[in-house]
This record gives sequence, C-alpha cells and structure tokens, in this order.
Amino acid sequence: MIKLVFHFFSVILLLGYSSTIAQNSKIFPGEIWNDTQGNPINAHGGGILFHNGTYYWYGEIKKGKTWLVPDQGWECYRVKAGGVSCYSSKDLINWKFEGVALEPNLTDSTSELHVSKVLERPKVIYNEKTRKFAMWLHVESADYSLMHAGVAISDTPEGPFTYIESVRPYNQTSADMTIFVDDDGKAYHIFAGENDNTLYIGLLEDNYLKHSKVFSRKFVNLRREAPAIIKHDQKYYLVSSWCTGWSPNQAEYAVADSILGEWKILGNPCIGEGSDLTFQSQSTFLLPVSGEKDKFIFMADRWNKINLEDSRYVWLPGKFDNGKMIIQWQKQWNP
Ligand code: GAL
Repeated sequence: MIKLVFHFFSVILLLGYSSTIAQNSKIFPGEIWNDTQGNPINAHGGGILFHNGTYYWYGEIKKGKTWLVPDQGWECYRVKAGGVSCYSSKDLINWKFEGVALEPNLTDSTSELHVSKVLERPKVIYNEKTRKFAMWLHVESADYSLMHAGVAISDTPEGPFTYIESVRPYNQTSADMTIFVDDDGKAYHIFAGENDNTLYIGLLEDNYLKHSKVFSRKFVNLRREAPAIIKHDQKYYLVSSWCTGWSPNQAEYAVADSILGEWKILGNPCIGEGSDLTFQSQSTFLLPVSGEKDKFIFMADRWNKINLEDSRYVWLPGKFDNGKMIIQWQKQWNP
C-alpha cells in the first residue's frame, strides 16, 4: 500500500514537472528556449507566418557537431544542413514542434538539400490566390560559393514542402534574404546580391514562385545582410546587419516610401547597453504585433559559431516613436 501511495505521488510529481517544463510564461532573450515538449527550439535564421489565428515559426535546423571548413580565408563554421523546422504557437511564447517542414536529403550528394550543403534563413508566405504556401531560403554549398535562392511549396503550413528549384535571381548571387508581402498581396524577395555587396529587392510573380522582371539595387556596396522588413504608417522599414560572418555587429535601419524606391538610412535602431553589437545578435525578422500599431517584435540570432546548434534567439520588443524605430534590451518580457 505504502509503495502504491508513493508511486501515485511520483506520478503526480512527474506530471507536474512535465507541465511546468511545457509552459513558458515569458521570453528570455539569449537563454535556451524550450518547445512544448521541453526540447530546445531549433529554428535559426527564422521567420514567422501568421495564418488563421496561428503563428508558425520556420527556421534552420542546426544539429550536431560544428566544424570549420578549411582554407576558406574566413570563419566558415558550419553544421550539417538539417532542413527547415516548423513550430506553431498562439501566444508567441509556447511553441509546439510541428515537424521538419522541408526535409534535408540524406542520400543524394548532388541534391541541393543534401546534408553536406547549407540551408539558411527560410521564410514562408501564404498565397491567397493559389492557396499554397511558398518557402524561400538561401541554398548554399559547403564552402558558401553557390549563393542561390531556393523555393519550395506546400498545401499546408506545416509542410511537407516540396522543393522546386533554386535560382540566381537577376543573374546575381543570392545569400542572406527575407520575403515581404505587402498589403496589396505583392511579395518581394530581399537578398544580399553581388557577393554580399548590394541588397536586391525583387518583386515575385503572382504565384510567389518566381521572380518578375521588376527589381531594384539598393544599399549599393554597403555590404548589408540579414535583412528584415516591416511596414508602418505606409512606410517601409528595413533592418539589416553589416557583413561580419557569425560575429555580431551594429544593426542599421532605413526607411522608404516605396519598397523599390529610395531608402534613407536612419542609423542604429537599438538603444542602451549592448546596442553597439545588436545585443550580440543579428536580425532575422520583424513581426508586427496584432492590435498594437506602433509595436513590433525584433527577432534575431545570437550565433555560437563554434557550437552552432547552441545559437540562441534574441527576441525583443520594438516600437515606433514619431517615425523612429526603437529596440531596447529586456532580460525577460511578455509579448
Ligand atoms: C552571416 C549570415 C548567416 C550565415 C553566416 C555564415 O553573415 O548572416 O546567415 O550565412 O554569415 O558565416
């Protein structure tokens, strides 16, 4: 009997424990962030899709040993390409792992998705007309010389996504990237082109699967990367980093009246201690906060170049104040 009672209590304790690890009440930027099963979220260089009342977070799966690709002349640290993960959430704090949305290829070394390659910065958008989900991502060779943009498609947000192809848009190298869908349904691919020297903003065709002929070259020779875009009061705001590999540098933002038009650089949106190095992180996405016109969430990656799997997420509250963008460090916060 005593044994039975003891067993009963340990089950209650265990249940209590698993429900506490499953429930997050706040975001702790830079700390390990567990999913609802208690596993560290693995979704780097990520982006968010808000669809039918649910947030979906897609990111790079970085798992296993990190190594340095020899003779590159730069810190080419990398892990096996693990595909793209998908997590879902209603509150942006508790994330359920939905599975691998885009699977890596384990057997065919000629495949662009083979584990020996690199897959980065996936972004997913929904096409109202075709009712399909399109994923764009930076598809790379092991030594980062391919510089292609890849595209995949799915009927459901969780995937599985079917890989279509990769391209060099406008005959340009394509590396760090994001996708932005405007209010009129037009989607743009913003990517670091010309060997990371110049940002390209390319209008996608209506099906979101190809580039139209319309594009513009911006931030010419300024070596901006890690682009992230948001629209506020009919203006476009772009945050980006400078080009220093996995090491953090100072973020910069710019504003434009038209996404393909002139961009005016306004400086560092980060303020306070740590703002000189973007709080040791690099931008990946800007998420509007529903119902809060002047607020957004700044999503960034704190890379750990010698153990990439242990790279952390820095999500911070951002706001617009008279057309100025402000991002401030918080140790913990609740969106
Ligand atoms: C960064 C880039 C990352 C990754 C890294 C490789 O500059 O933003 O996505 O490509 O370089 O060193």
